[in-house]
Amino acid sequence: MAEITQQAIDYSQLIPNNVDLSNDRTLQRALERWQPAFLNWWNETGPADSANLQVYLRTAISVDRDGWANFGYVRMPEYRWGIFLTPRDENRKVNFGDHQGQPAWQEVPGEYRSALRRIIVTQGDTEPASVEQQKLLGATCPSLYDLRNLFQVNVEEGRHLWAMVYLLHRYFGRDGREEAEALLERRSGDPNNPRILTAFNEKTSHWLAFYMFTFFTDRDGKFQLAALAESGFDPLARTTKFMLTEEAHHMFVGESGVARTLERTCQVMRQHDLTDPAEVRAQGVIDLETMQRFVNFHYSVTLDLFGSEVSSNAATYYTGGLKGRYEETKLGDDHSLGSSSYTVQEMAQGQIVNRSLPALTALNARLRDDYTREIQAGLDRWNRIPEKYGIPFRITLPHVGFHRKIGEFADQFVSPDGRVLSKGEWERQSPRWLPSEEDHQFVGSLMGRVIEPGKFANWIAPPARGINNLPIEFEYVRFD
Ligand SMILES: [Fe+2]
Ligand SMILES: [Fe+2]
Repeated sequence: MAEITQQAIDYSQLIPNNVDLSNDRTLQRALERWQPAFLNWWNETGPADSANLQVYLRTAISVDRDGWANFGYVRMPEYRWGIFLTPRDENRKVNFGDHQGQPAWQEVPGEYRSALRRIIVTQGDTEPASVEQQKLLGATCPSLYDLRNLFQVNVEEGRHLWAMVYLLHRYFGRDGREEAEALLERRSGDPNNPRILTAFNEKTSHWLAFYMFTFFTDRDGKFQLAALAESGFDPLARTTKFMLTEEAHHMFVGESGVARTLERTCQVMRQHDLTDPAEVRAQGVIDLETMQRFVNFHYSVTLDLFGSEVSSNAATYYTGGLKGRYEETKLGDDHSLGSSSYTVQEMAQGQIVNRSLPALTALNARLRDDYTREIQAGLDRWNRIPEKYGIPFRITLPHVGFHRKIGEFADQFVSPDGRVLSKGEWERQSPRWLPSEEDHQFVGSLMGRVIEPGKFANWIAPPARGINNLPIEFEYVRFD
């Protein structure tokens, strides 16, 4: 039996935690100084006009598999953001790379200090960025149910920032404290001080973009966190494991949000016997062609988050035991990858070709392929909706080379079906493949605020069930 320590979350503290913060006064004081700065950031860039709302939110009360969520009305600025790690397994080992078999590290190994800091800062930067991107969505919520889900995602992304900031403060000394401050200073989309990764500087200007983002981009988050949950640096593994339990809900919001949008569109198409996108739009729902363009956009910008297919950094992180593969400990190989290979698509003389590479340098491509398998499974579930209505349209994923800014296909012109195009052809055809300004305007024009309990905007179907087994017409947000 593995020996497990530390579970209960102490809510009597200013900063709720299960890391025994009250016994480390220096760390506690440093985090208590960062806390007001976090709240300032939340008030300035968090959900607009939300400070007085009472939102039916879940809050972590234990990190056990079953009982972690406690539901109740909360005013968001009073949400108990805290530091929650899954229990420590005293027997845990480094499970891959050069240090395989050594006890998992409880402190940062000196040689990996800057690499680990960079990993943690990059992950940490995405968390507040997504809150900033979603700041204005509350004003156009399609229902109280959806408004509540948006806010749940927002507070948990705020907590994910706490998770990374705890690691920076606890393990990285002065550098860590400076990085923690900088995490509150960068802003999504700010040309002078942007967030680190491009996808987190894009606008999330309406709810279709929000659902696509939480389906595609939060799932990248899942895969990055899952790879870090394998880390030999045990505190990173334990904190990302708990973050994954929160991430599941974010992806649910995205997948079900798109599904409900599809459902409503297909209903209207069947009811009025429509196929022409303009006629579908005239009914006040989002045509399937537009949905496909949004899929093309969000999938391609999210693929960029996996980094270059061929990456010496990824190899270093792996051999160092810092970042594993997806489900590393379930894989049945030598966990060192010294002699294995992996097939990657790349450009050669204007053609897309398969090339077998040392598996170590292809780890980003591998994680991205794992991600794509899950994304494809989600699309298959979406496609049951038009199928059910007898509509032949199917949502498809564009080719991995389509619309890329990073890696092998950066600066290439690849169609969604994987043909290499000239720049001229790309410019002629790509408006059909990516959301245009006009698409955004149309989708934006459908967004009106619906806050009557149990009512939903015309463009989206109600969910199958409410939150926490409550009815759909439950008052998920109170305005008094
Ligand atoms: Fe997150
Ligand atoms: Fe998330």
